[in-house]
Formats: sequence, structure tokens, C-alpha cells
Amino acid sequence: MRKQIAAANWKMNKTLSEGEQLLKGILGGMGEVQEHQQVVFAIPYPYLLKSNESIGAKKNTFVAAQNCHHKTSGAYTGEVSVDMLQSICIKYCIVGHSERREYFSESNSMLADKVNLCLSKSIVPIFCCGEPLNVREAGIQNEFVQQQLQESLFHLDADAIQQVVIAYEPIWAIGTGKTASSDQAQDMHKHIRSVLAKQFGQDVAGNISILYGGSVKGSNAKEIFSQPDVDGGLVGGASLVADEFLQIIKSLK
Ligand code: PGA
Repeated sequence: MRKQIAAANWKMNKTLSEGEQLLKGILGGMGEVQEHQQVVFAIPYPYLLKSNESIGAKKNTFVAAQNCHHKTSGAYTGEVSVDMLQSICIKYCIVGHSERREYFSESNSMLADKVNLCLSKSIVPIFCCGEPLNVREAGIQNEFVQQQLQESLFHLDADAIQQVVIAYEPIWAIGTGKTASSDQAQDMHKHIRSVLAKQFGQDVAGNISILYGGSVKGSNAKEIFSQPDVDGGLVGGASLVADEFLQIIKSLK
């Protein structure tokens, strides 16, 4: 069975002590994570090292960075490289979140570079894709997402693509309280898997975890995650409340 993943995206929230308290509450309440499941916390850079220590050897539980730079090193003031992440034992990194695409002008080709750099350091990229509202209203969301995948991931070979986690996050559902219906999520996830199957083969596509993101909450996670092509979620707002995220973890298949 491919991995079922509950990934928290704290974004630019929580001070160190607030974050520690939140993480402690979740780690204390979540019990054993099953072999086919993973729990991932994408937290702000300043707390990565400390949070990794807090998680320690807890099984199938990992810390992720929320971003990395698309160059290896150099004169890029304020940026963080994959080498730096690897040096503090970070195993996951969100790549191409829609907020970064929008506010920091990240292009599909720049994201291809980030994916390559992550993979070169054995960091799993959680590659985000998803359409804005006008694209959904025009009914061309499948083509839009397909192009994002093609331009950022299709240069990979079959081995490499299986190291990538994909997160489908319709932009109109992020932070808006407007969740995609479970049918809408399943339709897109099925489409993504079929696009991957055409490029990389059915078996490879079947091994790739595809997460849904966009207003996932404790109350709707179970229904969304129960869809056959939905392998968990990337969760913003609800990951900042311990009880909510615990319920989301419990909703994994
Ligand atoms: P949300 O954010 O759960 O607050 O909608 C999801 C995300 O942006 O990853």
C-alpha cells in the first residue's frame, strides 16, 4: 500500500514556545503511527532543528521544511539551501506551495530545479499543484494541473518520481473554509494518477502518494481521505490546533 500521510503546514505561524507546546500536544496524543502511514510537520525554519530533536526516533514521524532555494549555495541573502536542510537531517520539503508561486513568483521550471536539488540530497519533495478559481470556473483544471506536473516533474525517471509526494491543493479551497467536495478531490486525484501512469507507467503511478490540501479539518478529513486516490492531506489552519490535527491523523486510511 502506498504511504498515507498527514502533513501539517504551519506556514508563518507560532513562536518557538507556542510551536513547542503544539508539537508536544500532538506527539503526546497521537500514539503509534502504522507502518503504511506517516505524519509530517512542515514548520518554520528557525525551529526545524529543535523540532527534529523533539520528535527523535518516533516512528514514521518527520519534520519538513516549507521551502528551499533553487540554487545550491551563494549570494542569496535570506535563503536556505537543501545542503543546509540535509545537514540538520531534514527529510521532507514542501515545494511549490501556491502561496510561494503567487507571492514569490515561483515558476514551474524553478520548481523543477528545487525538486532535483531535494532529491539529490535524499529529501522528499512534497510537490504542490492546483488551480485558481477562474481556471476551475472555466472547467480547464485538469489541463492546468497536468501542465504543472509536466513542467516540474516529467524530466524525472521512474525511480525518482516515486520519491516525490504530490499535494493537490485547489487554490480556491486554501484557507477559505471552502473544501473541495470529496468527489471533486477524487476526480482530480484520479486525473493526476492517470497523467503519471501515462508518463511513468501504471505501477509507478500506483506507488505515488497524492495528498489533498485545502480546508481539511477534523470533521471532513475522514470522508476526503476515504476516496481511493486520496492518500492523506496537507493541512494548514487545522494543523495549528492539536485536537484538530490529531483527528486528521486518525482519519488516515
Ligand atoms: P488550509 O491550507 O488547510 O488552511 O486550507 C492548506 C495549505 O495551504 O497547505
